[in-house]
Amino acid sequence: MRMPIIAGNWKMNTTATEAAELVKAMKKKLNSISGVEKVLCPPFISLTTVKDLIKGTSIKLGAQNMYYERSGAYTGEISPAMLSGLCEIVVLGHSERRAHFGDTDQIVNRKVQAALAMQLTPIICVGESLEQNEAGETIEVVTRQVKAAFQGIDSPQETVIAYEPIWAIGTGKAARGDQANALSGVIRSVVAQLYGNSIAQEMRIQYGGSVTAANTSEFISQPEIDGALVGGASLKAAEFIGIVEQTSKIKQVG
Ligand code: 13P
Repeated sequence: MRMPIIAGNWKMNTTATEAAELVKAMKKKLNSISGVEKVLCPPFISLTTVKDLIKGTSIKLGAQNMYYERSGAYTGEISPAMLSGLCEIVVLGHSERRAHFGDTDQIVNRKVQAALAMQLTPIICVGESLEQNEAGETIEVVTRQVKAAFQGIDSPQETVIAYEPIWAIGTGKAARGDQANALSGVIRSVVAQLYGNSIAQEMRIQYGGSVTAANTSEFISQPEIDGALVGGASLKAAEFIGIVEQTSKIKQVG
């Protein structure tokens, strides 16, 4: 049985003060919910603040991105070595990074390699655009992204994959549970091709795109979906707690 994982990707939201307020508003309740891995991914500048606030709880910390070089003349970048020891998880290849900051499949691959080398757990984001979806290219695109992300990697260790159809992100138009489940199944079969069935069965696959407390059950009740990568709803304490609570209930009963 795979441990469900709910991660809140705060994106470029919250000042350090607001980040602290948000954590304070949800940490006690989140900590009390069992059977779900809970991850907060604030902006870089709030990682230390959030780390201090969640100390002694079951809540984990993640970053939203990183560069792949260990150190050097890369003004404005954050290295895997800087994140190591600060957080356990790092979101890589988010579609917003791919769209606005030039993260190609090759760059995502280098970042995944660098994260694993530093014992950081990557959440690798994949997903098709509306155009690709309408052209019937979803499986092809997602398969390519997953294979590219793992290029040259012998063991994916604890890597998590997030299936986030771009057309569902921030639009309020989530995918249907059965669609997301089918794509998660495709992703798992690609992982099985690369690493064998037992690693594929252990790998956790999240759905992301307009997840709310109200639609969580649609995704979490699917057999191939092991959690969610939550954007907008992770900025509201009650909403994020609701998503984690639902997940705990559904996966424990199921
Ligand atoms: P929303 O939940 O705001 O649609 O964002 C999803 C996402 O991109 C999480 O990484």
